[in-house]
Amino acid sequence: MKTIADLAAADEGRGLENKRLFIRVDFNVPLDKKTGAITDDARIQEALPTIRFAMEKGARVILASHMGRPKPGKKDGLSLEICGARLAELTDWEVHVPEDCVGDGPKKVIHDLRAGQVCLLENLRFHPEEEANDEGFARQLAELCDAYVDDAFGCVHRAHASVHALPLMVRDRAAGFLLEKELRALSRVVDNPEKPFVAILGGAKVSDKIEVVEALLSKCSVLCIGGAMANTFLAAQGRNMQKSLIESDKLALARTIIEKAAARNVKLVLPVDVKVASSLDATSGQVVMAGAVPEETMALDIGPKTVDLIRAELASAKTVFWNGPMGLFETPAFSDGTLDVARALAAVEGFTVVGGGDSAAAIKLAGAEVAAKIDHISTGGGASLELIEGKRLPGVVALETAS
Ligand code: 3PG
Repeated sequence: MKTIADLAAADEGRGLENKRLFIRVDFNVPLDKKTGAITDDARIQEALPTIRFAMEKGARVILASHMGRPKPGKKDGLSLEICGARLAELTDWEVHVPEDCVGDGPKKVIHDLRAGQVCLLENLRFHPEEEANDEGFARQLAELCDAYVDDAFGCVHRAHASVHALPLMVRDRAAGFLLEKELRALSRVVDNPEKPFVAILGGAKVSDKIEVVEALLSKCSVLCIGGAMANTFLAAQGRNMQKSLIESDKLALARTIIEKAAARNVKLVLPVDVKVASSLDATSGQVVMAGAVPEETMALDIGPKTVDLIRAELASAKTVFWNGPMGLFETPAFSDGTLDVARALAAVEGFTVVGGGDSAAAIKLAGAEVAAKIDHISTGGGASLELIEGKRLPGVVALETAS
């Protein structure tokens, strides 16, 4: 796979000079539900090295991204203008956002770009053809550019037009620095991870994580499970989880996973204690043993004894992968488990990778000092899981076939 540095190095270092360079970024940033403001601009910040490099090499930079999952004909609150404004704040560039991502509007903006100006195309998903990986739409995007760089790690698992069909139409295509960094970090987890390899999985549903659990069982030494998905495992072991969220149709699957872990010599760490409350709206909770959840209550966090077990496993870990919160961490009363695991991760001497929006948000919540000690915080949730599952990702495949 070529990188943007290879493109720039061509023609005696003038490979990007004056070229219209299409950079697929993932500016699908979280927005505050009430105000619509950006709550975390990490994805914009992480794309800056590639954009800055392209500008310095004299490229005419065209940025493109999706935002959210707009329904046909609905655009409310999903314009990329807000990201354009943040990009301009973070840099000293003038950011132009044409009304559409294809057609004469962007063509004119791109034609008129001068030094210090970038074009950020409007939300690609305002055209349903983007998600359909439509060749005609990709061709319209291809008309805008001379070269293509994918720096949208969070989207490489999507076979969408700007990620898959488009790069296959552009001869000079390459990976950006963020994509390169993400693939390098995750490959240390996927390909022969140094052992002991401890995986920590959380989140709401077992059903979302079946394939990644399967993949991890053949790679890791220890699998720690927390969050609401742990409830299903505890119930599968015969514990009465009372009002806790449980996937009753996945109990048999949870039993199979428990058996497979034993057969493969993978140590499975499930919660021994949990923090319970009577509803999701509760503002305080009570720590109880996992086998003694009181009637009319639900488990909303892992307890301190469980954190101790996870910490003990992390002490000797050489590789750690964490995805998914340990509880309802957005609510302060139920954030301890997740934040304590984040802190424990920061103390690990081995190689640590965090993947997924919620886990990355939890690391942020734990503070800058914690975040600084994690080796790699991925900008892609779904993409990092699919890599761990061993899948070939369409956005990567499209770059690998570059001539
Ligand atoms: C993400 O947020 O994980 C990426 O931007 C991909 O978004 P999607 O899940 O809507 O395709």
